Amino acid sequence: MSYKLHIEADAVNVAHAVADLIKEKAIEKREEGKKLNIAISGGSTPKQLFTLLGNEYEREIPWKTVRFFWVDERCVEPTDPESNFGMTYDALLQRTFVPNKNIFRMKGEDIPENEAERYQQLLWNEVPAKHGFPVFDIILLGIGEDGHTASIFPNQMTLLDSEFSVAVAVHPVSSQKRITLTGNTIKNAHRIVFLATGAAKADILRKIIHKETEAAKYPAAHVYDQEGNVDFYIDKAASSKL
Ligand code: 6PG
Repeated sequence: MSYKLHIEADAVNVAHAVADLIKEKAIEKREEGKKLNIAISGGSTPKQLFTLLGNEYEREIPWKTVRFFWVDERCVEPTDPESNFGMTYDALLQRTFVPNKNIFRMKGEDIPENEAERYQQLLWNEVPAKHGFPVFDIILLGIGEDGHTASIFPNQMTLLDSEFSVAVAVHPVSSQKRITLTGNTIKNAHRIVFLATGAAKADILRKIIHKETEAAKYPAAHVYDQEGNVDFYIDKAASSKL
């Protein structure tokens, strides 16, 4: 596994760097007459990216080419402040330049086990597959200070190797149920992009990027793309202990 670091001055520049990557890939796909299948995470760091995309990239990106899937979703109504879809809708999707038919949300309001099954079937129908798992072009991941990513938490490492593409997870503190892509789906992607900003992420990033022994217990240390690479888009504060 090789880590590629993209260190920007601050969180806004991180968002611009990832927005430019999405723009580059979307234009490539449009020129090939294909679609860009991207799975996105929730959290405050992705939110900064979506807000930037909504405010400054309407004319920059061929949005008809971009198809949005979710990495994970909290089991709440889409209108709930906790909803990852709701956050993305407010920041980006409510601006009409993303066609509705390109939006494949996880239905957090439904019975979790049923929704995990439905979404797994949806991915079979909507996304190419390899080795029995869906293949996304890009998966955008956040990383928690506890080393979780997606909704794969340190006390649920078995989700990394689940036979299923989508599973139900439980937040270890709040016990909130989540729908999440599993490790095998994430590792099947063409490109894995971590977004992490702020000094609070400096410790976990050091442990993972320096492959410290302790990193083995962190889910975020076990994901990489088909070529075994991981792109970290981070700011100076988050890189301060590397
Ligand atoms: C979620 C996310 C989760 C998030 C990380 C980082 O549903 O909460 O998918 O994996 O990306 O916790 O969140 P921050 O960017 O807010 O630190």
